[in-house]
Parts: sequence; C-alpha cells; structure tokens
Amino acid sequence: MARILEVEVMNDPASVDAYTAVTSTGGLGIKISTKLAGSVESLQIADIGCGNCGYYSYLNTLYPNSFFTAYDASSLMLEKAAKTTGLHRIKLVNSYIPDSTLPNNNFDLVISSLLLHQLPDHSALWQTIKQIGKTGAKFVVFDLLRVEDSNEAWAVVNETTEQAPDVFKKDFFNSLRAAFTLEEIQQQLLEAGLVATIETQEIYPNCSVIYITGTL
Ligand SMILES: C[S@@+](CC[C@H](N)C(=O)[O-])C[C@H]1O[C@@H](n2cnc3c(N)ncnc32)[C@H](O)[C@@H]1O
Repeated sequence: MARILEVEVMNDPASVDAYTAVTSTGGLGIKISTKLAGSVESLQIADIGCGNCGYYSYLNTLYPNSFFTAYDASSLMLEKAAKTTGLHRIKLVNSYIPDSTLPNNNFDLVISSLLLHQLPDHSALWQTIKQIGKTGAKFVVFDLLRVEDSNEAWAVVNETTEQAPDVFKKDFFNSLRAAFTLEEIQQQLLEAGLVATIETQEIYPNCSVIYITGTL
C-alpha cells in the first residue's frame, strides 16, 4: 500500500486527550527504552516529538542525573507533558521541526519515538538529529512500520485497542497507513548519510515496529 499521510501535529483536543489517556503509563513509546543503555552520567538528552512524555518516569530512572529537552509542535501535548513530568529535569520546547533556531551540536543523546510516521517529509527528523546532536552522540529512533493495506490496519486496531476511545482507534489506523516501510527508512538513512543499526519486531500479528540506533 502506498503511504497515506495523516494529520501531522497533534493539536486536536480529543486526539490529545485520548492519546494521553491511553499512553499515560508509557504506551508503545516505552519500547524505545529497551534500546537505551541508561547512564548515571549527567547527559544532555533531546527528545523530538515528545508528545505527552508518557514514559518519562521510566526515562528518569534510566538517566537519573541527565537533563531532557523535549520538543513538540503541539502546545496541547506540551501541556499534558508538563503535568506528566512535573517538569523535573526537563525543559519542554514548542518547536516545529525542521527548526533552524534549535541549538547546533548540543546533545549527547537524541531520541524520537513515534514521530517519523507523522512527518510529511522524513528528512525533517534526520536533519534535526544531525543538527542538534554532538559529534559522537547516540541517536535512537522508534516507530511503527506500514501495514499491507487498510483492512489489515483495521484488523490490528480492532485486535489491540478494544478499550480505547474511538478517536484513538482512528488515529492509530491512520498512523499504520502513514508509517514508512523498512526499505524506505533504509533509503532515508542512506540519503541523510547516517549509519545505523536497524531492528524490527512484530509486536502484534501483522504489525511491526522499527528501532534505529546510531552514532553521529
Ligand atoms: C504519536 S506522538 C508520539 C509522542 C511520544 N513521543 C510517544 O512516543 O508517545 C507524535 C508527536 O509528534 C508531534 N509532531 C508531529 N510533527 C511534528 C513536527 N514537525 N515537529 C515537532 N513535533 C511534531 C505531534 O504533535 C505529536 O505530539
């Protein structure tokens, strides 16, 4: 199936409420933490497309002395994030990437969970990672992979989100159709000049996710 773009920035109150309710204990995004090494050092960590920061209590235990700068273009999501995190060791920044005003060469670790599929132009993520990460910084990106077709997307949604609000189901359906394929992401990395290790995992029948880890 060809990619079908979804609404990029999550500014719809019903979508944001539903996303926050469903992911308040981490959601799928917490899976990124399985690829994070953790550290007791004081690192500068950036999160691109942080949303409601649903899995930050876990991130805080992985990086107990680090400082997070969490970027999102949705003021509603950032309001949720402020409540979730209590703003402990975290700065929330309203930024629509690509954003030339973000700091250059600044972060030791750059993470991004479930943002890539929402971007009309994937290069916004890869160029931002290159812009804000220090030379030698690690980056870890997590996302969904595109399903075969709309029927399969509904099958995944119905199987996995039975208790969720309808708006969340529709958003998840749209995300499964907007996501990239493994081959497309490999090509994106090549074009961006980024060397990375890629792993995929089938998390539900016919629904897979991708982990991309690399060093700048
Ligand atoms: C599906 S949410 C993921 C939230 C969180 N990272 C997680 O894993 O649960 C994607 C977020 O990316 C944000 N977003 C989409 N396009 C963006 C852009 N160009 N710049 C900044 N944020 C963007 C949306 O507003 C939304 O909050």
